[in-house]
Amino acid sequence: MIYLDNAATTWPKPPVVIEAMEKVLTQMGANPGRAAHGMALMASRTIVKARESIARLFNIPDASCIVFGPNATFALNQAIKGFLKPGDHVVTTSMEHNSVFRPLWSLQKQGVKMSIVQCSETGQLDVEKLEKALQPNTALIVMTHASNVTGTLLPVKEVGEVATARGVKLLLDAAQTAGVYPIDVQKLHIDMLAFPGHKGLLGPQGTGGLYVREGIELIPLLEGGTGGNSESPEQPQVMPDRLESGTHNTAGIAGLGAAVDYIMEQTVDKVRRHELELVAHFLDEVKKMPGITIYGPQNPEQKVGVVSLNVANADCGEIGYLLDQVYGIGVRTGLHCAPNAHRTIGTLESGTVRVSFSYFNTHDDVEQCLKAFSEIARNLV
Ligand code: ALA
Repeated sequence: MIYLDNAATTWPKPPVVIEAMEKVLTQMGANPGRAAHGMALMASRTIVKARESIARLFNIPDASCIVFGPNATFALNQAIKGFLKPGDHVVTTSMEHNSVFRPLWSLQKQGVKMSIVQCSETGQLDVEKLEKALQPNTALIVMTHASNVTGTLLPVKEVGEVATARGVKLLLDAAQTAGVYPIDVQKLHIDMLAFPGHKGLLGPQGTGGLYVREGIELIPLLEGGTGGNSESPEQPQVMPDRLESGTHNTAGIAGLGAAVDYIMEQTVDKVRRHELELVAHFLDEVKKMPGITIYGPQNPEQKVGVVSLNVANADCGEIGYLLDQVYGIGVRTGLHCAPNAHRTIGTLESGTVRVSFSYFNTHDDVEQCLKAFSEIARNLV
């Protein structure tokens, strides 16, 4: 199969990821941080090492400010529900995934007020508009770094500057950028960063994390065993224990750590250049085809390797079915768990066919996909 559904989960993974996971399962399948025997200590060290690698990747000053969890959705819920209180105002954008929008929506029932800044029909955010939406009681800005529907990059640095100047915290959803686009939490003024392990970071499913700037105290979503302070009925205050209860996904975190080391060895710049080349060529050619509508910016520099499109008036599910069954190409179709983004770009009724590239896709994959779209469009238009 030619796998072009990398915005959902990247595949394949670098071999070092599988080796690291196998090593945990075969040599140190014990509980990290819960005992002093050799296997438990090896498991603990594996987790510490992965945390330190992630800290280096995102220029996070203190690795203990990173908490592991199962995915970016968990991280976003922890950040949003652990930070906002009744009476707070939060600003977000119209390009968010449901992992941001649904927690915010439900917090409205507890007295949190939300403003949604409308993006352009290519998904671009006007920072002045966002600044005007801030109110005296705005506590948090939550925004995606890049849309999972159109790939549109949002101006995080500029928003970070506004947030700092106005004393508002910034939570960034890096679901589509972690590992494929440079992120420096200090330069970008990011207070909290939610990231999945299984997308651009090239780790396994069931991994992800949240960075919380020192000094921000979130109310934990989960309380329980942390391996320390067991005599106290209270959840420990110290990070990462405060936000990490229960047994870790040690094999998954080991895989994620190895994946992050692999990316740093390759460099994020090289990953970005490769994806940029693929997406630029894909856009250049697909836009010449009759009956194709492309959503989002046409300039590849303004996006990550995610392209949404439709072919004439055809049902996007049918296009996905043809790509899979006739051409052996895997894409995602429909609404990509981001209804407001679809409303913004005008595809709430139709959905889109979403093609998304990774570091392991080749120019030949792009050619095969273009050939498939060209034949499908010729038959439909
Ligand atoms: N959030 C993932 C996607 O965009 C699953 O497909």
